[in-house]
Amino acid sequence: MNSGAVIGIAIAIVIVLAAVMFLTAARRTDVRGAGALSRETRKRDQPAATGSKKSATGRDLEAAATASRTATVVKADTLLPSPWVEPDIEAIGLSRRKFFNRAYIGLMGLGLGGFAAASFVAFLWPTGGGGGFGGKVGAGKLDDILLNIRLNNGFFYLPEARTWITAYPADAVPKAKKIYPSLLLPGMEAGLVALYQKCPHLGCRVPECKSSQWFECPCHGSQYNRVGEKKAGPAPRGMDRFIVSVSGTGDVTIDTLGGAALPGPAIGTNTTGQEAEGPHCITGGE
Ligand code: FES
Repeated sequence: MNSGAVIGIAIAIVIVLAAVMFLTAARRTDVRGAGALSRETRKRDQPAATGSKKSATGRDLEAAATASRTATVVKADTLLPSPWVEPDIEAIGLSRRKFFNRAYIGLMGLGLGGFAAASFVAFLWPTGGGGGFGGKVGAGKLDDILLNIRLNNGFFYLPEARTWITAYPADAVPKAKKIYPSLLLPGMEAGLVALYQKCPHLGCRVPECKSSQWFECPCHGSQYNRVGEKKAGPAPRGMDRFIVSVSGTGDVTIDTLGGAALPGPAIGTNTTGQEAEGPHCITGGE
């Protein structure tokens, strides 16, 4: 198709569009504003509206309306205000605000009451004696414990009692008798000490250090020898301890004293003379 044909087609399209626009505009001029009624409609409605063959003009209607008006002022009826009567609370029932206030206070009271009851029951509930921490915890046979200590490279942990059990050397017992309370001596004489895992400084759990053969607290670096006597760090004393007893049949029991361990020995106590046997696990102790 050559360029002349294209131009011809374009001109034809433009002419057709112009014709469509012209016809549309001409149709719009035929309508006298939005909402205007056609002549047929107006003709049909006029007799029905007036009820007569002759249609009334707008002026006629306006004049009729003016003539029907009157200048007489009609006084409104005087109504006396009705006397106030106190509302019947029972009939009204609770307002929504009152309901929510009462529900809120009731629920709060219920919660506090439940908490108090639970605390009371917990306070009265017997602790200890059931074999867990706080009571007397069976640790097994003495020979087995000593074997476990050897197998675990110097330390035996008893989780039920939250306690480390280590061997106490027989040759240190005479020294211990001058320092430790008599409650602790039977266990030491049997060759054991039971050390509470909680650091006497600020209460962190103190782990064993197998290389130094000490206990070394990771929180602030307190260090204790294998029988819990303080060697370094900010702790105010040696590791606290529990009572060890050995029955005639060789069964070992750790009395965890309701969780209130006996205070560890004073700073400077060193009944075993054990020094660090290797590198420390925690640095920071003095
Ligand atoms: S809690 Fe153990 S050294 Fe501070």
